Amino acid sequence: MHYFEYKNGELYCEEVPIKKILEDVGTPVYIYSAKTIRRHYKVFEKSFSNIDHLICYSVKANSNIAIISLLKQLGSGADIVSAGELKRALKAGIDPKKIVFSGVGKTPEEIEFALRADILMFNVESLEELETLGEIAKKLEKKAPFALRINPDIDPQTHPYIATGIKRSKFGIPEEFVIEAYKKAKENPYLYPIGIDAHIGSQITSISPFVSALSRLKRIWEELINLGFELKYLDIGGGLGIVYKNEEPPLPQEYADAIIKEGKDLKATIILEPGRVIVGNAGILVTKVLYTKENILKKFVIVDAAMNDLIRPAFYQAYHKIIPVEEKYEEFEVVDVVGPICESSDFFAKERKLPKVKKGDFLAIMSAGAYGFVMSSNYNSRPRPPEVLVDEDKYYIIRKRETIEDLLAFETIPAKYL
Ligand code: LLP
Repeated sequence: MHYFEYKNGELYCEEVPIKKILEDVGTPVYIYSAKTIRRHYKVFEKSFSNIDHLICYSVKANSNIAIISLLKQLGSGADIVSAGELKRALKAGIDPKKIVFSGVGKTPEEIEFALRADILMFNVESLEELETLGEIAKKLEKKAPFALRINPDIDPQTHPYIATGIKRSKFGIPEEFVIEAYKKAKENPYLYPIGIDAHIGSQITSISPFVSALSRLKRIWEELINLGFELKYLDIGGGLGIVYKNEEPPLPQEYADAIIKEGKDLKATIILEPGRVIVGNAGILVTKVLYTKENILKKFVIVDAAMNDLIRPAFYQAYHKIIPVEEKYEEFEVVDVVGPICESSDFFAKERKLPKVKKGDFLAIMSAGAYGFVMSSNYNSRPRPPEVLVDEDKYYIIRKRETIEDLLAFETIPAKYL
């Protein structure tokens, strides 16, 4: 569900014609719909209304501070994985008491920053990290609230690169070490165990992996309560999938019902860390056709966006729907849509049936709101595109286009080479 629709033959975002934005900022450009983000957040939030819960939007999915701020207005907390994301969440006005800090490699500096900011809890991913957290907490004379991230060894049946709760993945702590670790933490008065956590992967399109993970967490939770721990938060991470092509992910209500059923007897606040399901379908990447060409085997549409702008097709062979900005075509053809970068993996679609576009036409690459701009780079010395947020009949440039000067600004030539 999103608010990108054709009206009188041209694509709109809410009440703004896409072409109006293109005339202003050019291409390539990311365009987000505020109404879609609000709707997704509210539907997700409402699904859990029958249980004590806290939504911590996973900032990594789309970390523009305007987007985080919009979600803050709706009451969201934040799941962060770095000092940079913490800074963004704070700058957007998220209440630190609604921030959880995940990640396998938090540096001592990042831990100190988050402790000083008084975040809700650290989702600790190794025994050594727990030790470091204890040391820093002692130095600052602050109690560090934490949950251990458990690796429940569950296959979420998703792309291997985004499966995070299987035994051979780097994430979390194996179940068999968990109870001992909590007991050990009790010896340090600066460590304050207040929850348990798991996150099993992303773009998950069935309910059963979530239920299995939760039932593992529940067993551990009960064991810890019996041992006298006073836990408050049960964090089951993010991961709910969306429709890119023809997937059939559970509806938020179905997902919530399954979690509520499994978790309702625990006296816990359930923490959820949704990312993609909130912003994924709320964003598009709009690009211009630079050239078309063909060889004996194929026809190519060469566009001005590239894998540095949206890496998901190159990285995960991800499917993104592509539609024209103007609905004016009568003929269709099978093409590869490719970018200007010097890599064969620089493509957005392969052997895709598309309207017969020409040089100068515009295409919208759909479902690019999550893991789009945030994963962009400057490869081939390409400035990153701007981000625009549409809200009803207005639009705001929430990140301006980089310039080549911006790219060079960090580099220096030592005098010896002049
Ligand atoms: N919590 C933790 C600890 C995470 O690592 C993630 C995502 C989330 C929550 C949010 O998951 P979501 O609800 O968005 O599925 N770049 C990949 C996705 C990587 C996901 C990383 N972790 C992609 O483009 O598909």
